[in-house]
Amino acid sequence: MRLLVVGANGLLGSNVVYTGIQRDWTVAGTYHSTRPEFEIPQTQFDLTDSETFDEVLETHDPDLVVNCAAMTDVDGCEKNPDRADVINGDAPGALASQCAANDVEFVHVSTDYIFDGTARDPYCEGDMPNPVQVYGDSKLAGERAVQEADGDHLIARLSFVWGVHRSSGELNGFPAWVRDRLASSDTVPLFTDQWVTPTRAGQAAATLLDLVDSDATGLYHVACRSCVTPHEFGEVLAGQLESDASLLKERSTDDVNRDATRPTYTCLDVSTVESRLGRPQPTLEADVREIRDAVR
Ligand SMILES: NC(=O)c1ccc[n+]([C@@H]2O[C@H](COP(=O)([O-])OP(=O)(O)OC[C@H]3O[C@@H](n4cnc5c(N)ncnc54)[C@H](OP(=O)(O)O)[C@@H]3O)[C@@H](O)[C@H]2O)c1
Repeated sequence: MRLLVVGANGLLGSNVVYTGIQRDWTVAGTYHSTRPEFEIPQTQFDLTDSETFDEVLETHDPDLVVNCAAMTDVDGCEKNPDRADVINGDAPGALASQCAANDVEFVHVSTDYIFDGTARDPYCEGDMPNPVQVYGDSKLAGERAVQEADGDHLIARLSFVWGVHRSSGELNGFPAWVRDRLASSDTVPLFTDQWVTPTRAGQAAATLLDLVDSDATGLYHVACRSCVTPHEFGEVLAGQLESDASLLKERSTDDVNRDATRPTYTCLDVSTVESRLGRPQPTLEADVREIRDAVR
Protein backbone atom coordinates (compact mmCIF):
# COMPACT_ATOMS: atom_id res chain seq x y z
CA MET A 1 0.00 0.00 0.00
CA ARG A 2 1.26 3.48 -0.88
CA LEU A 3 0.03 5.79 1.91
CA LEU A 4 0.13 9.60 1.96
CA VAL A 5 -0.55 11.22 5.34
CA VAL A 6 -1.74 14.83 5.17
CA GLY A 7 -0.66 16.51 8.42
CA ALA A 8 2.20 14.10 9.21
CA ASN A 9 3.46 16.30 12.06
CA GLY A 10 0.18 16.32 14.00
CA LEU A 11 -0.39 13.99 16.94
CA LEU A 12 -2.66 11.67 14.97
CA GLY A 13 -0.77 12.16 11.70
CA SER A 14 2.56 11.14 13.25
CA ASN A 15 0.89 7.96 14.53
CA VAL A 16 -0.60 7.14 11.13
CA VAL A 17 2.87 7.56 9.55
CA TYR A 18 4.44 5.36 12.25
CA THR A 19 1.76 2.67 11.95
CA GLY A 20 2.04 2.62 8.15
CA ILE A 21 5.83 2.22 8.39
CA GLN A 22 5.42 -0.60 10.95
CA ARG A 23 3.17 -2.39 8.44
CA ASP A 24 5.84 -2.09 5.74
CA TRP A 25 3.64 0.22 3.70
CA THR A 26 5.29 2.84 1.47
CA VAL A 27 4.60 6.03 3.42
CA ALA A 28 4.90 9.71 2.45
CA GLY A 29 3.63 12.80 4.21
CA THR A 30 2.74 16.46 4.00
CA TYR A 31 3.49 18.93 6.75
CA HIS A 32 2.47 22.55 7.31
CA SER A 33 4.85 24.61 9.49
CA THR A 34 7.26 21.98 10.88
CA ARG A 35 8.73 18.99 9.04
CA PRO A 36 8.65 15.90 11.29
CA GLU A 37 11.76 13.75 11.78
CA PHE A 38 10.52 10.76 9.75
CA GLU A 39 12.77 9.44 7.04
CA ILE A 40 10.04 9.42 4.43
CA PRO A 41 9.40 11.63 1.38
CA GLN A 42 7.61 14.79 2.51
CA THR A 43 6.08 17.84 0.87
CA GLN A 44 5.12 21.13 2.47
CA PHE A 45 1.39 21.66 1.87
CA ASP A 46 -1.12 24.23 3.14
CA LEU A 47 -4.81 23.32 3.24
CA THR A 48 -5.63 26.94 2.34
CA ASP A 49 -4.09 26.08 -1.09
CA SER A 50 -6.08 22.88 -1.48
CA GLU A 51 -6.40 23.34 -5.26
CA THR A 52 -2.66 22.47 -5.48
CA PHE A 53 -3.20 19.05 -3.89
CA ASP A 54 -3.16 17.35 -7.28
CA GLU A 55 0.55 18.27 -7.52
CA VAL A 56 1.11 16.51 -4.17
CA LEU A 57 -0.74 13.47 -5.51
CA GLU A 58 1.38 13.50 -8.64
CA THR A 59 4.59 13.67 -6.58
CA HIS A 60 3.78 10.80 -4.23
CA ASP A 61 1.37 8.69 -6.33
CA PRO A 62 -0.46 7.14 -3.33
CA ASP A 63 -3.18 4.45 -3.26
CA LEU A 64 -4.54 5.96 -0.05
CA VAL A 65 -4.63 9.47 1.51
CA VAL A 66 -5.40 9.93 5.22
CA ASN A 67 -6.21 13.54 6.09
CA CYS A 68 -5.14 14.22 9.69
CA ALA A 69 -4.59 17.98 9.21
CA ALA A 70 -7.05 20.48 10.62
CA MET A 71 -7.34 23.74 12.52
CA THR A 72 -7.68 22.07 15.93
CA ASP A 73 -7.44 25.13 18.20
CA VAL A 74 -11.08 25.33 19.29
CA ASP A 75 -10.81 28.88 20.69
CA GLY A 76 -8.67 29.95 17.70
CA CYS A 77 -11.48 28.84 15.37
CA GLU A 78 -13.92 30.99 17.34
CA LYS A 79 -11.67 34.01 16.82
CA ASN A 80 -11.00 33.28 13.14
CA PRO A 81 -14.09 31.59 11.71
CA ASP A 82 -13.23 32.33 8.08
CA ARG A 83 -9.94 30.47 8.37
CA ALA A 84 -11.65 27.58 10.18
CA ASP A 85 -14.22 27.34 7.38
CA VAL A 86 -11.51 27.17 4.71
CA ILE A 87 -9.24 24.64 6.49
CA ASN A 88 -11.84 22.44 8.22
CA GLY A 89 -14.86 23.03 6.03
CA ASP A 90 -13.81 23.52 2.39
CA ALA A 91 -10.40 21.86 2.05
CA PRO A 92 -11.48 18.27 2.94
CA GLY A 93 -14.00 18.27 0.08
CA ALA A 94 -11.35 19.50 -2.38
CA LEU A 95 -8.95 16.75 -1.24
CA ALA A 96 -11.68 14.10 -1.50
CA SER A 97 -12.59 15.23 -5.04
CA GLN A 98 -8.98 15.22 -6.21
CA CYS A 99 -8.46 11.76 -4.72
CA ALA A 100 -11.59 10.47 -6.47
CA ALA A 101 -10.44 11.95 -9.79
CA ASN A 102 -7.11 10.10 -9.40
CA ASP A 103 -8.65 6.83 -8.17
CA VAL A 104 -7.07 7.24 -4.70
CA GLU A 105 -8.85 6.10 -1.51
CA PHE A 106 -9.55 8.96 0.92
CA VAL A 107 -9.90 8.84 4.71
CA HIS A 108 -10.97 11.96 6.58
CA VAL A 109 -10.86 12.62 10.33
CA SER A 110 -13.60 14.49 12.17
CA THR A 111 -14.64 15.15 15.74
CA ASP A 112 -17.12 14.50 18.55
CA TYR A 113 -17.59 18.30 18.69
CA ILE A 114 -20.10 18.09 15.83
CA PHE A 115 -22.55 17.11 18.65
CA ASP A 116 -24.14 19.60 21.07
CA GLY A 117 -23.46 17.51 24.17
CA THR A 118 -27.03 17.40 25.49
CA ALA A 119 -27.19 13.57 25.31
CA ARG A 120 -26.44 11.34 28.28
CA ASP A 121 -25.86 8.15 26.29
CA PRO A 122 -22.95 7.75 23.86
CA TYR A 123 -23.60 9.26 20.43
CA CYS A 124 -24.09 6.88 17.48
CA GLU A 125 -23.02 7.72 13.92
CA GLY A 126 -26.66 8.35 12.93
CA ASP A 127 -27.40 10.82 15.73
CA MET A 128 -28.20 14.38 14.71
CA PRO A 129 -25.19 16.74 14.66
CA ASN A 130 -25.69 20.17 16.17
CA PRO A 131 -22.37 21.92 16.78
CA VAL A 132 -22.26 24.64 19.42
CA GLN A 133 -19.04 26.39 18.38
CA VAL A 134 -17.23 27.45 15.17
CA TYR A 135 -14.78 24.51 15.33
CA GLY A 136 -17.59 21.90 15.34
CA ASP A 137 -19.52 23.82 12.72
CA SER A 138 -16.49 23.91 10.39
CA LYS A 139 -15.69 20.22 10.97
CA LEU A 140 -19.30 19.26 10.20
CA ALA A 141 -19.07 21.28 6.96
CA GLY A 142 -15.89 19.29 6.19
CA GLU A 143 -17.69 15.95 6.73
CA ARG A 144 -20.50 17.05 4.42
CA ALA A 145 -18.09 18.29 1.74
CA VAL A 146 -16.35 14.89 1.79
CA GLN A 147 -19.68 13.03 1.64
CA GLU A 148 -20.76 15.16 -1.35
CA ALA A 149 -17.50 14.63 -3.26
CA ASP A 150 -17.27 11.87 -5.88
CA GLY A 151 -16.01 8.50 -4.69
CA ASP A 152 -16.50 6.30 -1.61
CA HIS A 153 -14.81 7.79 1.43
CA LEU A 154 -14.22 6.83 5.02
CA ILE A 155 -14.83 9.42 7.75
CA ALA A 156 -13.76 8.72 11.35
CA ARG A 157 -14.92 10.85 14.27
CA LEU A 158 -12.51 10.94 17.21
CA SER A 159 -12.88 12.31 20.76
CA PHE A 160 -10.26 13.94 23.05
CA VAL A 161 -7.16 12.73 21.18
CA TRP A 162 -4.09 11.95 23.31
CA GLY A 163 -0.93 9.88 23.10
CA VAL A 164 2.70 9.77 22.08
CA HIS A 165 3.80 12.01 19.20
CA ARG A 166 5.72 9.56 17.02
CA SER A 167 8.20 12.07 15.59
CA SER A 168 9.26 13.67 18.90
CA GLY A 169 8.63 10.50 20.95
CA GLU A 170 6.99 12.64 23.63
CA LEU A 171 3.68 12.11 25.41
CA ASN A 172 1.47 15.04 24.35
CA GLY A 173 -1.22 17.24 25.81
CA PHE A 174 -3.49 16.42 28.74
CA PRO A 175 -1.81 13.27 30.15
CA ALA A 176 1.65 14.83 29.92
CA TRP A 177 0.40 17.85 31.87
CA VAL A 178 -1.20 15.60 34.53
CA ARG A 179 1.95 13.44 34.76
CA ASP A 180 4.24 16.45 35.14
CA ARG A 181 2.12 18.05 37.88
CA LEU A 182 1.84 14.77 39.79
CA ALA A 183 5.61 14.24 39.46
CA SER A 184 6.28 17.64 41.04
CA SER A 185 3.58 17.07 43.73
CA ASP A 186 1.44 19.95 42.40
CA THR A 187 -2.33 19.77 42.66
CA VAL A 188 -4.13 18.94 39.40
CA PRO A 189 -7.50 20.69 38.89
CA LEU A 190 -9.65 18.50 36.63
CA PHE A 191 -13.22 18.83 35.35
CA THR A 192 -15.87 16.57 36.85
CA ASP A 193 -18.70 17.87 34.63
CA GLN A 194 -17.44 17.02 31.13
CA TRP A 195 -17.61 13.50 29.61
CA VAL A 196 -15.51 12.17 26.71
CA THR A 197 -14.31 8.84 25.28
CA PRO A 198 -10.56 9.56 25.01
CA THR A 199 -9.02 8.39 21.74
CA ARG A 200 -5.40 7.25 21.95
CA ALA A 201 -3.74 8.41 18.73
CA GLY A 202 -1.80 5.16 18.19
CA GLN A 203 -4.95 3.09 18.68
CA ALA A 204 -6.90 5.32 16.29
CA ALA A 205 -4.14 5.08 13.66
CA ALA A 206 -4.19 1.26 13.76
CA THR A 207 -7.99 1.24 13.67
CA LEU A 208 -8.10 3.57 10.65
CA LEU A 209 -5.66 1.41 8.69
CA ASP A 210 -7.56 -1.75 9.71
CA LEU A 211 -10.81 -0.16 8.47
CA VAL A 212 -9.10 0.58 5.15
CA ASP A 213 -7.87 -3.02 4.98
CA SER A 214 -11.47 -4.17 5.53
CA ASP A 215 -12.65 -1.95 2.62
CA ALA A 216 -14.86 0.07 4.99
CA THR A 217 -16.47 3.26 3.73
CA GLY A 218 -18.89 5.66 5.41
CA LEU A 219 -18.90 7.07 8.93
CA TYR A 220 -17.28 5.47 12.01
CA HIS A 221 -16.80 6.57 15.61
CA VAL A 222 -13.26 5.66 16.71
CA ALA A 223 -12.60 6.07 20.44
CA CYS A 224 -12.09 4.00 23.58
CA ARG A 225 -15.01 2.25 25.32
CA SER A 226 -14.71 4.31 28.53
CA CYS A 227 -16.91 7.40 28.90
CA VAL A 228 -15.05 9.43 31.53
CA THR A 229 -14.55 12.91 32.94
CA PRO A 230 -11.06 14.47 32.79
CA HIS A 231 -10.95 13.87 36.57
CA GLU A 232 -11.56 10.14 36.05
CA PHE A 233 -8.90 10.13 33.30
CA GLY A 234 -6.56 11.72 35.86
CA GLU A 235 -7.36 8.91 38.32
CA VAL A 236 -6.41 6.28 35.71
CA LEU A 237 -3.13 8.11 35.07
CA ALA A 238 -2.39 8.50 38.79
CA GLY A 239 -3.03 4.75 39.22
CA GLN A 240 -0.61 3.88 36.42
CA LEU A 241 2.00 6.27 37.85
CA GLU A 242 1.36 5.04 41.43
CA SER A 243 1.04 8.74 42.33
CA ASP A 244 -0.88 10.41 45.13
CA ALA A 245 -4.46 10.65 43.74
CA SER A 246 -5.36 13.18 46.47
CA LEU A 247 -3.47 15.76 44.34
CA LEU A 248 -6.35 15.52 41.81
CA LYS A 249 -8.83 18.29 42.60
CA GLU A 250 -12.40 18.63 41.38
CA ARG A 251 -13.10 21.54 39.07
CA SER A 252 -16.10 22.69 37.04
CA THR A 253 -16.12 23.87 33.41
CA ASP A 254 -18.01 26.92 34.78
CA ASP A 255 -14.75 27.93 36.53
CA VAL A 256 -12.99 28.77 33.24
CA ASN A 257 -13.70 31.45 30.68
CA ARG A 258 -13.01 30.38 27.11
CA ASP A 259 -13.90 31.90 23.75
CA ALA A 260 -15.66 28.79 22.46
CA THR A 261 -18.48 26.89 24.17
CA ARG A 262 -17.61 23.27 24.94
CA PRO A 263 -20.25 20.53 24.85
CA THR A 264 -20.44 18.81 28.24
CA TYR A 265 -21.04 15.26 26.96
CA THR A 266 -19.50 13.93 23.73
CA CYS A 267 -18.92 10.26 24.45
CA LEU A 268 -19.00 8.22 21.25
CA ASP A 269 -20.69 4.86 20.75
CA VAL A 270 -18.08 2.57 19.16
CA SER A 271 -20.25 -0.47 18.40
CA THR A 272 -20.16 0.12 14.61
CA VAL A 273 -16.37 -0.03 14.39
CA GLU A 274 -16.33 -2.96 16.83
CA SER A 275 -18.68 -5.02 14.66
CA ARG A 276 -16.86 -4.03 11.46
CA LEU A 277 -13.48 -5.16 12.84
CA GLY A 278 -14.84 -8.01 15.00
CA ARG A 279 -13.08 -6.91 18.19
CA PRO A 280 -13.80 -4.55 21.11
CA GLN A 281 -12.28 -1.10 21.28
CA PRO A 282 -9.97 -0.78 24.31
CA THR A 283 -10.94 0.61 27.69
CA LEU A 284 -9.10 3.76 28.82
CA GLU A 285 -7.16 1.67 31.36
CA ALA A 286 -5.96 -0.66 28.58
CA ASP A 287 -4.95 2.30 26.40
CA VAL A 288 -2.92 3.86 29.24
CA ARG A 289 -1.28 0.48 30.00
CA GLU A 290 -0.37 0.10 26.32
CA ILE A 291 1.95 3.12 26.47
CA ARG A 292 2.91 2.89 30.15
CA ASP A 293 6.60 3.55 29.43
CA ALA A 294 5.76 6.94 27.84
CA VAL A 295 3.29 7.79 30.61
CA ARG A 296 5.88 7.21 33.33
N1 LIG B 1 -7.19 16.92 19.42
C1 LIG B 1 -8.38 16.43 19.76
O1 LIG B 1 -8.72 16.31 20.95
C2 LIG B 1 -9.33 15.96 18.69
C3 LIG B 1 -10.59 15.47 19.07
C4 LIG B 1 -11.45 14.99 18.07
C5 LIG B 1 -11.07 15.03 16.75
N2 LIG B 1 -9.86 15.55 16.41
C6 LIG B 1 -9.52 15.59 14.98
O2 LIG B 1 -8.45 14.69 14.77
C7 LIG B 1 -7.61 15.16 13.72
C8 LIG B 1 -6.17 15.16 14.15
O3 LIG B 1 -6.03 16.01 15.28
P1 LIG B 1 -4.69 16.09 16.15
O4 LIG B 1 -5.10 15.99 17.57
O5 LIG B 1 -3.68 15.16 15.62
O6 LIG B 1 -4.30 17.60 15.86
P2 LIG B 1 -2.90 18.35 15.81
O7 LIG B 1 -1.87 17.61 16.58
O8 LIG B 1 -3.21 19.76 16.16
O9 LIG B 1 -2.52 18.27 14.27
C9 LIG B 1 -3.14 19.03 13.30
C10 LIG B 1 -2.19 19.19 12.14
O10 LIG B 1 -2.85 19.99 11.16
C11 LIG B 1 -1.86 20.85 10.60
N3 LIG B 1 -2.44 22.05 10.02
C12 LIG B 1 -3.03 23.10 10.64
N4 LIG B 1 -3.35 24.06 9.76
C13 LIG B 1 -2.97 23.59 8.55
C14 LIG B 1 -3.01 24.12 7.23
N5 LIG B 1 -3.50 25.34 6.96
N6 LIG B 1 -2.53 23.36 6.22
C15 LIG B 1 -2.02 22.15 6.44
N7 LIG B 1 -1.93 21.59 7.67
C16 LIG B 1 -2.39 22.32 8.70
C17 LIG B 1 -0.99 21.23 11.78
O11 LIG B 1 0.27 21.69 11.31
P3 LIG B 1 0.93 23.00 11.95
O12 LIG B 1 0.98 22.75 13.42
O13 LIG B 1 2.27 23.03 11.31
O14 LIG B 1 0.04 24.16 11.57
C18 LIG B 1 -0.88 19.89 12.53
O15 LIG B 1 0.21 19.14 12.08
C19 LIG B 1 -8.18 16.52 13.30
O16 LIG B 1 -9.03 16.35 12.20
C20 LIG B 1 -9.01 16.95 14.50
O17 LIG B 1 -10.07 17.80 14.13
C21 LIG B 1 -8.97 16.00 17.35
